[in-house]
Amino acid sequence: MALLCSCILMAAMGLVALAVPHPRSSALHHLTKQLLGQYRKEVRPVHNWTEATTVYLDLSVHAVLDVDVQNQKLKTSVWYHEVWNDEFLSWNSSMFDEIREISLPLSAIWAPDIIINEFMDIERSPDLPYVYVNSSGAIRNSKPIQVVSACSLQTYAFPFDIQNCSLTFNSILHTVEDIDLSFLRNREDIRYHKKAFLNDSEWQLLSVTSAYSILQSGAGDFAQIQFNVVIRRRPLAYVVSLLIPSIFLMLVDLGSFYLPPNCRARIVFKTSVLVGYTVFRVNMSDEVPRTAGSTSLIGVFFTICMALLVLSLSKSILLIKFLHDERRGGREQPLSCLRRDSEADGSLTCPSTRATCAEATESPVCQEHQVQAGTLKEVWLQLRSINNHLQARDKVYQQEVKWLALLYRFDQLLFQSYLVVLGLYTLTLCSLWALWNGL
Ligand SMILES: *[C@@H]1O[C@H](CO)[C@@H](O)[C@H](O)[C@H]1NC(C)=O
Ligand SMILES: *[C@@H]1O[C@H](CO)[C@@H](O)[C@H](O)[C@H]1NC(C)=O
Ligand SMILES: *[C@@H]1O[C@H](CO)[C@@H](O)[C@H](O)[C@H]1NC(C)=O
Ligand SMILES: *[C@@H]1O[C@H](CO)[C@@H](O)[C@H](O)[C@H]1NC(C)=O
Ligand SMILES: *[C@@H]1O[C@H](CO)[C@@H](O)[C@H](O)[C@H]1NC(C)=O
Repeated sequence: MALLCSCILMAAMGLVALAVPHPRSSALHHLTKQLLGQYRKEVRPVHNWTEATTVYLDLSVHAVLDVDVQNQKLKTSVWYHEVWNDEFLSWNSSMFDEIREISLPLSAIWAPDIIINEFMDIERSPDLPYVYVNSSGAIRNSKPIQVVSACSLQTYAFPFDIQNCSLTFNSILHTVEDIDLSFLRNREDIRYHKKAFLNDSEWQLLSVTSAYSILQSGAGDFAQIQFNVVIRRRPLAYVVSLLIPSIFLMLVDLGSFYLPPNCRARIVFKTSVLVGYTVFRVNMSDEVPRTAGSTSLIGVFFTICMALLVLSLSKSILLIKFLHDERRGGREQPLSCLRRDSEADGSLTCPSTRATCAEATESPVCQEHQVQAGTLKEVWLQLRSINNHLQARDKVYQQEVKWLALLYRFDQLLFQSYLVVLGLYTLTLCSLWALWNGL
């Protein structure tokens, strides 16, 4: 009885097993077997070898991840599509349960060897294992890739810079007779397709222009498609953190010209500004991109500002030194204000004394005068030597005054050059901004 029961159970289980369709009986399986049974992925899938396989390309830029100016590298995340026709992978869909599209492993079929010419590093692009094939043999392969590409990045107009980087696709081996390239979408659509782009980064996508060309080389003619990704930087953060503070520092320094030039506080003031400026530059040095080949305009401006600061500081030091010399000299010659009188009287005193003496020779006072004439002469000689000495000093003094006047002039010149530099800087920034806006 138990044996019978188990037999019935076994039979029932067998029936159940028969009722569940075997995977081999599915239309998909049939189709895949039919397609890949005799398929050889080494062979370019055309019946007539003289025909080229056309690969249709499309690209949409998803995000700009990194712009490395120092190493001239651009890292972007793009969505890449390619479509080609495989003449060996087509079927009549009415014979296969109306299947119009199936996915096949990419590793099992022939695929074009298209690379990005500028790539330096393809990072973390997931290897998607399947492609879609439709009943007329069109194969669609799409994948997101993070491209690190070489690009000539210009920093001249930083932070109002616009970068134009190209991604060139071509077959690494096949000439245009074997693999030709074409566009999957209208070029205008590619150009203004920005929906996929992540907006809230530092970079803004302006356009993606594309061009087809044939690259002629010794190894043959290669079809290539170039996408020019044009991006521009959003400058607001840099304007706030870099340009405005530097202008403020310059304005403060400009204010120091309103202190009297001979005021020692000016040196202290200017030194503080210089220190402040240095600290500012050191802080900001990471923000300003640097390349070996070219410097940005604002880097040049910072250097000019620094030079002006140093120049005006050294001028102030010189001025104070001269003023100090003069003051010390002034203390040692308290008679200097009298020298005009002694000069004027020197030649007149004696004749007049003599005249008065001749009139009153008899007077004992006069005799006394005559006795004193010798000493007077001595005094006069002394006065004269003092006078010579004073005149020499005067010459030195006048030279100093000349120097001082020169320094004052220089001070004014510096003030004017500050104004000119600031004006030029503002003008340049404004025009760069206008250019930036115009695109
Ligand atoms: C291949 O195509 C070319 C031109 O398209 C034609 O002249 C040639 O006869 C074709 N060859 C075969 C085997 O069909
Ligand atoms: C597909 O198969 C159906 C029936 O099997 C046939 O009538 C039809 O002509 C075929 N189509 C093509 C394009 O061969
Ligand atoms: C297969 O895909 C290609 C390209 O996407 C298309 O042109 C063609 O009409 C499709 N064929 C079928 C049968 O859907
Ligand atoms: C970008 O560069 C390519 C050549 O490298 C040029 O043809 C294209 O006009 C440039 N685009 C812009 C917007 O400057
Ligand atoms: C990106 O910004 C542009 C203009 O700045 C706007 O037209 C577009 O809708 C934005 N896209 C997204 C996804 O935010």
